[in-house]
Amino acid sequence: MQTTAALKPDYGNWVSKKFIFVPGLLGLLFLGLAFIAPVWAIPASLFFLIGGYFLFSYYRFSPAGGDVQSRIVGLILEHLDWDGHGKALDIGCGNGALTVRLAQAFPAARVTGCDFWGRNWDYSQQVCEQNARITGVAERCLFQKASASALPFEDGSFDLVVSNLTFHEVSDTADKRQVLREALRMVKPGGKFAFQDLFLVEAIFGDPDELVSLVKSWGIRKVEFVRTCDEPFIPALLKLPFMIGRIGILYGEK
Ligand SMILES: C[S@@+](CC[C@H](N)C(=O)[O-])C[C@H]1O[C@@H](n2cnc3c(N)ncnc32)[C@H](O)[C@@H]1O
Repeated sequence: MQTTAALKPDYGNWVSKKFIFVPGLLGLLFLGLAFIAPVWAIPASLFFLIGGYFLFSYYRFSPAGGDVQSRIVGLILEHLDWDGHGKALDIGCGNGALTVRLAQAFPAARVTGCDFWGRNWDYSQQVCEQNARITGVAERCLFQKASASALPFEDGSFDLVVSNLTFHEVSDTADKRQVLREALRMVKPGGKFAFQDLFLVEAIFGDPDELVSLVKSWGIRKVEFVRTCDEPFIPALLKLPFMIGRIGILYGEK
């Protein structure tokens, strides 16, 4: 039997394998048809191109391809000005990548990771708990099923609230700025926050400067915005708008 010390945490990959396999299989199907009528080579090429793009993205996000996913999670930690004392919340924690990193970085903190863990994603509470055990932070991590649109905590319950690439995913709230507001409800007065998302996609969050003003109008004392999509370690092909080409971090103090 393997001990937890020999196991590696599994934080998953933001590119679901279905985005590789479905276009790949459709490409093969149309390639077969192209032997009957060459015109089918056109959709075959298109599907191979799409599958190839997602395969490349999957690889670059993974540890073998440069760990871009982990480095993007790390950007949130770089924008935290927190003393590490008290309670932290990670909203939409996935497999607990950021939750575990927070617990490792702040040995005095207790960290809660919450997620909807819906069918669209290959993440689970069980894997989160296993990752926390493997990395030796299980005693200070709690994982809980909850929706980012209506978090089951009192106002101001946390000294630090973070979230990575989750708000835009919340399907039951049309205006994703309300998900951001719900996240800020969790921060206690004087507490810190750092959220990374597709904040440069105006169709979702509006103009970034106006977003900062809006957040301030909710009574948030300090709000800063930084374009993390410009980080030089992000490969050019991953900078397409629907991938991570429009990400930024909103951080500050309530
Ligand atoms: C791109 S993943 C990011 C996961 C994690 N934050 C990370 O950095 O690895 C988006 C996450 O949002 C979660 N999510 C989607 N809708 C949600 C909701 N309504 N409430 C909570 N989490 C949600 C998904 O389950 C998924 O874990």
